[in-house]
Amino acid sequence: MRQAGWPIPRTLASSILAAAAALAVWSFAPDAFPRSHTSILGLAFFAGILAVVTGRLMCLGNAWLVLTAIATPALVLVPIYRPPSWVFPLIALVLAGFYINGVREKVPLYLSNSATERALADLFRKMGGGTFIDLGCGLGGIVDRISAALPESHVIGVETAPLSFLASWLRLNGQGRRNATIHYQSIWDTDVGDADVVYAFLSPAPMARLFEKLKAEMKPGSIFISNSFAVPDREPDEVIGVDDSRQTQLLVWRM
Ligand SMILES: C[S@@+](CC[C@H](N)C(=O)[O-])C[C@H]1O[C@@H](n2cnc3c(N)ncnc32)[C@H](O)[C@@H]1O
Repeated sequence: MRQAGWPIPRTLASSILAAAAALAVWSFAPDAFPRSHTSILGLAFFAGILAVVTGRLMCLGNAWLVLTAIATPALVLVPIYRPPSWVFPLIALVLAGFYINGVREKVPLYLSNSATERALADLFRKMGGGTFIDLGCGLGGIVDRISAALPESHVIGVETAPLSFLASWLRLNGQGRRNATIHYQSIWDTDVGDADVVYAFLSPAPMARLFEKLKAEMKPGSIFISNSFAVPDREPDEVIGVDDSRQTQLLVWRM
């Protein structure tokens, strides 16, 4: 999978390169940017765009591009404005609120794209609907799309990164979506016995343990779909190619 390998160093590299380029322009070509708040904000914006372009060239996934787009302007503004020291723990807390599972579970936040959401909704519709669980639902995009496409189905998302959970919960409850539920719950504590489809877009780290759990708990006839990540020594029963730019593969196991 192109966007999965070492995204944290690549995100840092794109941010640092772009911020350094912007600060170099600021220091060595003072005429290009007059010393006003407007031009400093322009410089920060320019650095954010540069970081996204650099990140794209480094094949970063969308969530990492969002992170670099936010972090890079901050890297530019900090040495110029020297904000009070409490700003830094606050930024760290916000980032941890979304990305803590990158450290705890080796599964950071990145998002399934809309082509994948459509492919999953089509597959679930062909199966006749039922109960769909997204293990580690991120910002709730999959739960949103599937529950809207199949109003008779029940779609559940579980998430333990606090701000991702909050974003999903607000997203689904804000729309009053009755057939969607978001739980603050670990994948490992989630009962998958009633699920017709379990979907996961995680990382290589939890796949062997996760498959053992699902094999033990899922009912006969249900399916497990892993976006991109294989299960060691377990060939999928089917591989569905998604027609998107990163050539997403949905690996399907029948239970
Ligand atoms: C790669 S994102 C996928 C998000 C979403 N499923 C999608 O496809 O757009 C994986 C998510 O799993 C969450 N996660 C990782 N380990 C978890 C665990 N043990 N319990 C609940 N969520 C977990 C992470 O916080 C992250 O938001």
